[in-house]
Amino acid sequence: MDSFVIQGGYRLEGTIRVHGSKNASLPLLAAALLTEEPVVFRDVPDLADIQNMLRLLAELGCERQDEPGQSGAIGNPVTLRSENESQSHARYDIVRTMRASICTLGPMLARRGSARISMPGGCAIGDRPVDLHLRGLAALGAEISLEGGDIIAKAPPGGRLRGDTIFLGGPFGSTVLGTANVMSAATLAECITIIESAACEPEIVDLANLLRKMGAKITGAGSPRITIEGVESLGRADHAVIPDRIEAGTFMCAAAITGGAVTIENCPIDTLLAAIDRLEHAGVHIETTDGTDPLHATCRVSADRVLKPIEITTQPHPGFPTDLQAQFMALLSLAGGNSVITERIFTERFLHVAELGRMGAHLFRAGSTVVVSGVKQLTGAPVMASDLRASACLVLAGLAAEGTTTINRVYHLDRGYERLEERLRPLGARIERVGESV
Ligand code: EPU
Repeated sequence: MDSFVIQGGYRLEGTIRVHGSKNASLPLLAAALLTEEPVVFRDVPDLADIQNMLRLLAELGCERQDEPGQSGAIGNPVTLRSENESQSHARYDIVRTMRASICTLGPMLARRGSARISMPGGCAIGDRPVDLHLRGLAALGAEISLEGGDIIAKAPPGGRLRGDTIFLGGPFGSTVLGTANVMSAATLAECITIIESAACEPEIVDLANLLRKMGAKITGAGSPRITIEGVESLGRADHAVIPDRIEAGTFMCAAAITGGAVTIENCPIDTLLAAIDRLEHAGVHIETTDGTDPLHATCRVSADRVLKPIEITTQPHPGFPTDLQAQFMALLSLAGGNSVITERIFTERFLHVAELGRMGAHLFRAGSTVVVSGVKQLTGAPVMASDLRASACLVLAGLAAEGTTTINRVYHLDRGYERLEERLRPLGARIERVGESV
């Protein structure tokens, strides 16, 4: 298992480019199951979760078929074609490695009339139920049962789902992948589907944009009410994935925590307004140098003094994203006073708290709130990555800490950040990947 060894205390300076979004790519790739025609995806990041999704789709008869001359490597466009519809079972072996496998359920059910997928278990950040996904698909007429740990979903007699009005709100707001599943399934249903309390995340807007290119009739994506008028079939499309807002937010934190000055290219500032608001309140300078296209902007992030403490509450989009909570905790552990962070999406998402404490952060957790009492200096230590964003938090802490930080199990980080060490090094970070735990 790889580890990172970081010598902290160096200011980051230079330019970095944001890659395509992991969380947008996963449901986008699954949407290729909705048609027998080829779908081309550009700017798909080269990540373990993407490889797992491509492996799952291949098992489901949706193979990668790149144009002659393309090497097949990610970085090049990915072309998927769903040619063999006989295998509709997403097995536990793959689903257990990646919960996002669940987003194959809606497309398979809508196109093939039935689907079987292993029920995803909990994960490091909480229980993560899928009841809202299933409730939404049942409202479209699907018969859902559970057998041997698998969800079995069947379309009504005749094989076609039927549109309805569906409320997708749960105790923690809407559901991103649940909205993706129901919206994708509804594209091929009879009549009109209205999703009320839909997730408003930019990844849902990106999926709706792809589905529309494929011939779907969707309005309202990005708002809490999405309307889908079902069509008979969908066809080919060519789509570039939006840049990763969480990666961009992590780079902003990296510039700020090292007192650096970093220019971030391909930055989806339009999707990051809550995070930018919090950074500016903390005293970080963010200047958009090219905002012609706010989904692909260039901005310069700098910080030159001790940051001010702030309050953060995670919320569904456009609120502050849970996927940046851990990174902001690292940043605020060096602010000049007490910050308060409340997690309202995944209330147990605090695995990074104990590890940050090992580096000298002063953190006090009560339920879903953590009080962060800023310290003057973090100190390097051996720490353990436990989930994707917790790992990013530890990298940030390591970049700022005095001395050496060793982060074990960086495979968690590799699920969501493409070769992070190689991209941070040109900015002046002293970060190395080593092959075994040290
Ligand atoms: N929830 C339910 N029932 C459901 C579904 C969700 O109660 O059927 C609850 C969840 O337990 C949670 C809340 O609703 O409290 C929101 O969960 P959501 O379904 O929106 O999460 P998700 O779609 O499974 C995606 C991202 C996560 C991100 C969340 C929230 C992908 C692949 N994953 O998960 O990303 O944290 O939305 O924005 O898109 C990450 O990238 O590190 C990550 C975990």
